[in-house]
Amino acid sequence: MPQPETSSAPPPGQPLSETYLQISPNILEIFPRFRPPVDIYLHDEALGRVGLLHGAGRRLGAEAQARVAGLAAEGRLFLLREDYHVYARHLSRKLGLVLVEDGLNPCEVAEIFSLALRDKVARFLDQPRREELDRLRGDIAILAEYLWADPCRVAVLTRALHRDHDPAVHAVNTLFIGIGLFVMLTSSAPAGAGGSGGAERTALSAMALGLALHDLGMTSVPRFITDKERYLLRRDRESIERHIEAGLRMIERLKVRDPVVRQCLEEHHERLDGSGYPRGLRGEAISLPGRLCAVADTFAAMIGSRPHRGAGSPDEAVATLVHESRRYDRRLTGLLAALLDSGVPGCAMPRTGR
Ligand SMILES: [Fe+2]
Ligand SMILES: [Fe+2]
Repeated sequence: MPQPETSSAPPPGQPLSETYLQISPNILEIFPRFRPPVDIYLHDEALGRVGLLHGAGRRLGAEAQARVAGLAAEGRLFLLREDYHVYARHLSRKLGLVLVEDGLNPCEVAEIFSLALRDKVARFLDQPRREELDRLRGDIAILAEYLWADPCRVAVLTRALHRDHDPAVHAVNTLFIGIGLFVMLTSSAPAGAGGSGGAERTALSAMALGLALHDLGMTSVPRFITDKERYLLRRDRESIERHIEAGLRMIERLKVRDPVVRQCLEEHHERLDGSGYPRGLRGEAISLPGRLCAVADTFAAMIGSRPHRGAGSPDEAVATLVHESRRYDRRLTGLLAALLDSGVPGCAMPRTGR
């Protein structure tokens, strides 16, 4: 085991935890034992300094592994928060740890959820089978648990939206925005207060699954149509509109019977003025999950990039939705504007730094 090669004290007045994340035994376990992918630092309490103990990617012998494990158990090992993109990816494969690791800041947790959910959604869209659906459900249950413990946490999910043109990115953006709206709508009966909260977590999970799967049927639309730059022909539009019934058939086959999930898939293109599809429903005939999914989906589509245009600005997207009050639920678009502007009422705005 090499001795610390470099050592430094945290900048004056800055707590150690701002620069470094403590490596708990749980976090140590997410890395390959023989070759940790991040620099590992040792904290010398007596000197108040942190020194590099082991460089990223270098091999650790069996003896050194035992020493590192011992130091982690003593709480003396740290990694640089700058290396967040590396440890976030590893943590996203063992998502349950976000519920027990207090050292992770909310922005890191949001990105870890985003990575994990994008991966699970992409796998499921690629192979819409029961096993992949169960994996996605598992991650969604962890998200529901995380949000139920503190509903204010939904605001930070809006800091982890991505802009790539990718069906899994669109699904997770829709989920993050939609679940924020759902928590704001239901926050008059705060989750986490009293009782086991089982019903609230189940409702959160169902809404989240519906949001994540709303465009499931798009997997049956040929890519050359969904990627068309412009000038969609009538038959192209009809093909795209059939993604609703294709999605419903798929959840039927997978025996997903939750009405909230079904309403999301069936109604996310319905509009209050009857101009939507597939049924041209109006006003209250559209369920609340359907209206909520419509707002979250349209916002996510507007801020995502497309083959023929760059990503739209979130401010302009919200302004458009608020302006289109004949088509989108005014209460929901108002909540969306508040969520993006000042967060959840009664909650402190999440810190955006890592
Ligand atoms: Fe859709
Ligand atoms: Fe969509």
